[in-house]
Amino acid sequence: MTGLTLRATVEADRPEWIRGLRASRELHAPWFPSLDDRGGYEGLFESGMERQAAGTAWRGLAIAPDGRVAAWVNLNDIVRGVSETANAGWSVNAEFAGRGVATWAVGALLTHAFSPEGLGLHRVACGIMPANHRSLRVAEKCGFRREGFARELIRIAGNWEDHVLLAKLASEHGG
Ligand SMILES: CC(C)(COP(=O)(O)OP(=O)(O)OC[C@H]1O[C@@H](n2cnc3c(N)ncnc32)[C@H](O)[C@@H]1OP(=O)(O)O)[C@@H](O)C(=O)NCCC(=O)NCCS
Repeated sequence: MTGLTLRATVEADRPEWIRGLRASRELHAPWFPSLDDRGGYEGLFESGMERQAAGTAWRGLAIAPDGRVAAWVNLNDIVRGVSETANAGWSVNAEFAGRGVATWAVGALLTHAFSPEGLGLHRVACGIMPANHRSLRVAEKCGFRREGFARELIRIAGNWEDHVLLAKLASEHGG
């Protein structure tokens, strides 16, 4: 899909941000902690905006030409100083699934994360459930390399789920 743009989330995005997430509940539910564990839609939006304002997160949106949110791409747990790292997370709006949107959006997120004009980070990591083949494929296409395996890392749908650990370095990103 062409014509997408990446930008940071702003307060005015709240209604469309929530509408897209609601429309994508079935696609996201097997792979993300329950909204009940994260303060519901409003609580999740607000905590993301607070962490973005504090500089510990960057909450990105891939916007379709018609203004809808096509994907959510986030950098969480940003650590500066001698680390310059973050953890990436991503999902697409179900209305845009299977059209290359996540691959484009994660690639654009990494460019923002690593470039000196963006966040200037050194390393971006992510964790993906072994059964999430689509997301593992997105990570692979975007140049993440497998580094390890974390047992029972996150509680999802009531179960503690193992995650494959991956990362990409700034020196490995072509832009
Ligand atoms: C994972 C997700 C972000 C992918 O979004 P998307 O925009 O549909 O992904 P893309 O179209 O960019 O790429 C998907 C790739 O997976 C491949 N794929 C699809 N189903 C697959 C399967 N069952 N097994 C292996 N690969 C699969 C596609 O063929 C494509 O690869 P290709 O370009 O080499 O053909 C989306 O499905 C989603 O939001 N899932 C729920 C939330 C989630 O899992 N987030 C990540 C948590 S770590």
